[in-house]
Amino acid sequence: MRFRTRAIHIGSEPDSTGAVVPPIYLATTFIQPGAGEWGTFDYSRSGSPTRAGVERTLANLEGGVGALAFSSGMAATHCAMNLLEAGSHVVAGCDIYGGTYRLLHKICNRNNISVTLVPAQDASRVAAAIRPETRMVWIESIGNPLMSVPDISEIAAITRAKNILLGVDSTFVPPCILRPLEIGADIVMHSATKYLGGHSDCLAGVLATKDPELHQRLYFTQNATGAVLGGLESFLLGRGIKTLELRMREQCRSSMQIAQWLESHHRVRRVLYPGLASHPQHDRAKRIMGDQFGAMISFEIHGDCEETKRVCRSTKLFGLAVSLGAVESLIEQPATMSHASYEASARAAAGISDSLIRISVGLEHPEDLIEDLDQALVGPNR
Ligand SMILES: Cc1ncc(COP(=O)(O)O)c(C=O)c1O
Repeated sequence: MRFRTRAIHIGSEPDSTGAVVPPIYLATTFIQPGAGEWGTFDYSRSGSPTRAGVERTLANLEGGVGALAFSSGMAATHCAMNLLEAGSHVVAGCDIYGGTYRLLHKICNRNNISVTLVPAQDASRVAAAIRPETRMVWIESIGNPLMSVPDISEIAAITRAKNILLGVDSTFVPPCILRPLEIGADIVMHSATKYLGGHSDCLAGVLATKDPELHQRLYFTQNATGAVLGGLESFLLGRGIKTLELRMREQCRSSMQIAQWLESHHRVRRVLYPGLASHPQHDRAKRIMGDQFGAMISFEIHGDCEETKRVCRSTKLFGLAVSLGAVESLIEQPATMSHASYEASARAAAGISDSLIRISVGLEHPEDLIEDLDQALVGPNR
């Protein structure tokens, strides 16, 4: 079956009632056949029917042996980082999500885990940062917010040779476009709050892997630490996934149109979108993603921090908010919002300037979005 057929049918098979939509199980505990004898489900932290359904969908769509659904993307990333022994070293991309930066520098460090940030679009920099105690390389399939595109297969060849885990946060590039497990990643992670859920109404995270032993280790950690996805959110996530491919195709199409328009705008200094020929990794992006380059665009304006803030609060359709990936378009200033948890020096080193704006392109008509951006960029003194 093709992707969108599987997205609709796998994991939501009709039960004995014939209901075409699976029920939402809210039970936290399950009657057992006998003392010390366990049925399929026992306690909902360890597994529940609604969560198991969406985990089957996710495993299938990612090409994994299994998937685990978490209460947030950060809970999923934390579970992956919990694989690391104290004293391990992680190499991570330098334009990663601010919350991942904070997790690595302010939580994992308590376990004596050290981190080196490198521009992951340059695989030789990743290779050079690896030390004898490196146990994990963590990259984003499109870097946040600078839209860098790493060569996942090339980095996978490096990590495989050194027996290091490669984790890919593919939140910006959902599995209808890219399946990192198929090109060498050991673990794929999603903030399912974004495109997978797709409607800004469900906080969720996902890990999937193609190695049964690794899956069991992650499951053990998830069960032991407990940040699982609840029944209602599992249902919402499953419902969102059914339209993922259609939403994504349209959002990518609009994004290309908006990115091209932004590139010609006199108030815009530069546009970062992997679909543009001007993007430094455009050819690589084409090889990895085909003709869909995601629906996130960053651009720098001519103007200082205050002017950038003015543009962000002047849009009428783009909501001024963190997050992304839903049907409604959003706008934000990474330096003061999604990436505020970076040290100022790390932001500067990564090239995240105060005049950078990041937009998440939703499903509104692209011409309406262009008109909205234009009035915000030009401002009251047009
Ligand atoms: C790329 C990326 N990874 C991880 C996360 C964290 O996910 P969550 O907010 O679901 O915990 C986000 C959230 O914005 C993100 O954009």
